[in-house]
Amino acid sequence: MNFHILTLFPEMVMQGLMTSITGRAVQQNKIGIEAVNIRDFTTDKHGKVDDYPYGGGAGMLMQAQPVYDACRSVLDRLPVSGIRRVIYVTPQGTPFTQKKAQELAKCDDLLILCGHYEGIDERVLEEVVTDYISIGDYVLTGGELAAMVIVDAVARLVPEVLNNEQSAETESFHGNLLEYPQYSRPEIWHDRAVPPVLLSGNQKEIGIWRKGQAVKRTKERRPDLYQRYETLEKCKNFLMRQKLLHIDMIECINRCRAEVIYWDGKELLLREQKSGVFFHTRENVMDLPAKPEEWKVGKMLVKEQKRGRICLVVHQEQMIPYVEQLLSLQVSVSCYQAVCTRKEKLPVRGLYRPDTMETVSGYVIKPLDMELLPQVVSNYDGDLSKEYFQNRIAEGQMKGVFCDGSMAGFIGQHDEGSIGMLQILPEHRGKKLAQVLETVMVNEALERGEIPYAQIRVENKASLSLQEKLGLCISKAPVYWMESV
Ligand code: ADE
Repeated sequence: MNFHILTLFPEMVMQGLMTSITGRAVQQNKIGIEAVNIRDFTTDKHGKVDDYPYGGGAGMLMQAQPVYDACRSVLDRLPVSGIRRVIYVTPQGTPFTQKKAQELAKCDDLLILCGHYEGIDERVLEEVVTDYISIGDYVLTGGELAAMVIVDAVARLVPEVLNNEQSAETESFHGNLLEYPQYSRPEIWHDRAVPPVLLSGNQKEIGIWRKGQAVKRTKERRPDLYQRYETLEKCKNFLMRQKLLHIDMIECINRCRAEVIYWDGKELLLREQKSGVFFHTRENVMDLPAKPEEWKVGKMLVKEQKRGRICLVVHQEQMIPYVEQLLSLQVSVSCYQAVCTRKEKLPVRGLYRPDTMETVSGYVIKPLDMELLPQVVSNYDGDLSKEYFQNRIAEGQMKGVFCDGSMAGFIGQHDEGSIGMLQILPEHRGKKLAQVLETVMVNEALERGEIPYAQIRVENKASLSLQEKLGLCISKAPVYWMESV
C-alpha cells in the first residue's frame, strides 16, 4: 500500500512518519510513503500557491491549479486497476474512526491532501476528492498532523507492518470497549501496588477482572461507546435463549461485526458489516400485523432495498411470506445450524498433523492459492459464483487437502462467518477427508476464540451426519436465506 501526501510542508510529514513503526515498514517495503510538494506544481513565477477569497473574508485560500496539478502528477502514474482514494483532511470532514481506517486499509493507494491558510478552492476539491475526513472537533494550523494520524492508523492495519508482539487488533475499540488498565514491574511503585489478581496466575480470574475494568472505564470515559456495548449485550442475552438457532447472529456480535438496525427487546434486525447480510429474528410470530405493509422492520428493509439488493436471513418460517410479499425476496437455501458448543479442540489424532506436515496417509493441508480457483469452481456442487470463491481465496479463507501435490478437497469460511464450501473430489471420497478439513477449520476458529459453526442445507443428510459425528450440535429448526431471484 502506498501513501502520497500532498502538502506545502513535505519535511514535516516525512520526519514524522519515517521514524518508529511506519518508518521501519517503509524500509522493509511493506508500505510506501511519499510527500509531494504542492508548491513544485505552481505555474506562478514567484512560486505563489494562495490568493484572496472571492467575496471577501479573512485569510488566503490555496488555489486550484497547483493542487490539481500535484494530484494529477500522482494519479497519472498509478496503475489503472488499483483501488485508490483521494482524501482531503479538514475540520469539515467526517470524523475519522477505526472503522474508516479499516476501510482505507483495503486500498492500494491513498492520496492525502493537506490544506493550509483558510482552505482550498472548492472547485478542485469537487474534481478530485473522494473522502473528507476530520480527525476531531478542533482546528489545526494545517492538515499535515491529520494526514500523519491517518497514515499511522491505516499503516498498522496493513499485513506484516506490526510484528507478532504488536497486535493489529483494534485494541481499544474491539467490541465497543476501551482497553483495560495494564501494569508492569515493579510490583509496588510510589506506594501503589499492582492489582493482586494480576499476580495470581489464574487466567480465568484475570480475564474476568480485565473485562470488568474495561466496562467500568468505558462507562466513565465514553458513555457513547458504552451505550452501544450495552445494547449489544442485551441483544446477545436475548439470542442466547435459543443459542443453536441464533448462533450466526451471536457470533456476528461476538466477532464485533454487528450493527443493530432494529431492536425493541422482542425483535432484532442486525447487519453483518463485512458482507452486508441482514439477520432477523422475532420472539413472537403470533402477534405479527395482519398486513405485511404494517410490519415495522419490513418497512425499514424496504428502505434499505432502495439503496441496493439485499440478502436477509430469517430465523422463523412464519416470516417467509412477509418477506416474499413486502421485499420480493425468495428462499434460496434453508439450513440447520451446526454448532461446536465446547471450548476444547476436536481430536486430531489419526486425522492430520497440526504442524501442517504430511499425514501418515500422505495428505497435506494448506491454504488455497489463486491458481486453484478454476479447480475449486468446477468441482463445487453448490451455487456460489467464481467471484465469491476468488474473494474467499484472496482473503485467505479457503483451505485445501492435497495428495501428491494435487487438490483432493477444500473447505472455507464464508464472508459472514460460518464454515462451509466443503467439497471432496470424487476419487478421494471415503477417506475421512471431510472430517479432516472440518476439524482443521473448527480448531482454528476455537484458537481465535470463536464459536465455530456451519450452516448445513436441510437436504444434505451426509453433511448433517458428519456434523453429529464430529460432536457439533444441530439446531432444531432451520434458518432461511432470502435473496432476490
Ligand atoms: N485541518 C485542520 N484541522 C483539522 C482537523 N481537525 N482534522 C483534519 N484536518 C484538519
